[in-house]
Amino acid sequence: MFISRHPCFFKFFRKRADRIFCQGKIPYSTIVCHLHVIEFIFTSLLGLNPLLLKSSMHSEGPEHCTDKPFHYHEELIVDIQSLSNEGRGIARINNWIIMVPFVIPGERVRARIFKNHTNYSEADLIEVLQASTDRISPPCPLFGRCGGCQYQHMAYEKQLEWKHRHITDCLERIAKLSAKVKPVQSSQKIYGYRTKITPHFVRNRTNNFPIGFLAYGRKCSLVDVPRCYIASDPINTCLPEVRIQTRQNLQMKSGTLLLRDCSQGVLTNPKAVARTQVCGYDFLFQAGSFFQNNPYILESILQYLQQLRLQFRQIHYLIDAYCGVGVFGIVLAKSMRQFVGIEVDESSIALAQNNMQLNRVDNGWMQHGEAETVFKGIAFPKDQTLVVVDPPRKGCSESFLQQLIQFQPAVVVYISCAPDTQARDLKRVLTLAPQYKILELQAFDMFPQTKHLECVAVLSHM
Ligand SMILES: C[S@@+](CC[C@H](N)C(=O)[O-])C[C@H]1O[C@@H](n2cnc3c(N)ncnc32)[C@H](O)[C@@H]1O
Repeated sequence: MFISRHPCFFKFFRKRADRIFCQGKIPYSTIVCHLHVIEFIFTSLLGLNPLLLKSSMHSEGPEHCTDKPFHYHEELIVDIQSLSNEGRGIARINNWIIMVPFVIPGERVRARIFKNHTNYSEADLIEVLQASTDRISPPCPLFGRCGGCQYQHMAYEKQLEWKHRHITDCLERIAKLSAKVKPVQSSQKIYGYRTKITPHFVRNRTNNFPIGFLAYGRKCSLVDVPRCYIASDPINTCLPEVRIQTRQNLQMKSGTLLLRDCSQGVLTNPKAVARTQVCGYDFLFQAGSFFQNNPYILESILQYLQQLRLQFRQIHYLIDAYCGVGVFGIVLAKSMRQFVGIEVDESSIALAQNNMQLNRVDNGWMQHGEAETVFKGIAFPKDQTLVVVDPPRKGCSESFLQQLIQFQPAVVVYISCAPDTQARDLKRVLTLAPQYKILELQAFDMFPQTKHLECVAVLSHM
């Protein structure tokens, strides 16, 4: 509610509403409705255009904002110089950094401060005064309010350019590496590509509670998402029914829903076994467990790995560390003498074994356990071994990296969706084992319209 953004109104109405509501005299929904009307009247009287003030704006109140160097809600006109790795615009006033979302470098914007940190301030975007030629109209009406996408306002080529800078920057800043990163491979589909979404909900007294994603910049407020533009068509077709059922099921107070698009249709039970085909291979996986969400880019990554493998004729053995349901291992297995996949999640490793049979792959095995333990039982000749490493966002443990270096495989392919932890781990490997060199860095746009991406680093000591 816009009025609640003004600190005085905020305190006044919240106190009143709480008092009346706690006594149970008036239904809460009535209060909310009245507050909307009062809010509209006040904003109109104050000359504020409610449509300009998007609800993504921050309303924590001045008590959450020190007065230096800017006052709470001070408006500034700033020139956007760059983008942070979080996808926010960076502007400077007297060398002080101001972060503004949903902007493009080169733009002049009006921004409103809502928080001062020790070395930078955060502001909401109020108005774009001089737009970049790369600014486009975001198709999703929720863009700017929903926290899912950060880049819908930017031409796709520009998104790729900034993602490329993001990786280069992580490597320079974290790993002190000035390695050349190849241009980011684009996704064949830039909307409607996601095969999994997980909307959240918290039931309230109305039957119209939001079912969707975290609001931009918020930790606990949800935006209602009746349609997600980056989700696949089958997911958007099923979403209305899932939302109706969720609202009708009074047993469900709060939670996270699952919609997983696969060969059988859209699955909503996280324990259900999903099936899908990638690059002519069939894979089973648990609907709620990890499986790459953009099948178009997954195909590109697999083709890239197959091509890469051809460059290393002396490689005959493969370790697929953090293998999930065995996708990389199985796709590369046919060109290997032997391989092993290792995965900590029991259900994923069981399905990885099924996937071997499904794809008639029998020259290896899938091992349940921590990636850190894989090296103990491996008798592969190190100079003929490729290790594919695809850890979760937090990256590899020190123990894993130590053993990897000790094992000294001829080639390491490190795949990651978190360039910062990847840069940290690469630095560690290159410091402990300077004989390794980065042969190639190739990024893939696994998540168009968002700040996220996938990066593959190829290391070798040959
Ligand atoms: C980013 S996913 C990659 C999965 C697979 N490579 C794929 O692309 O489908 C990371 C996987 O590592 C697994 N994992 C997390 N920590 C692990 C560990 N210490 N040892 C082995 N696997 C782990 C997770 O369960 C998850 O399946």
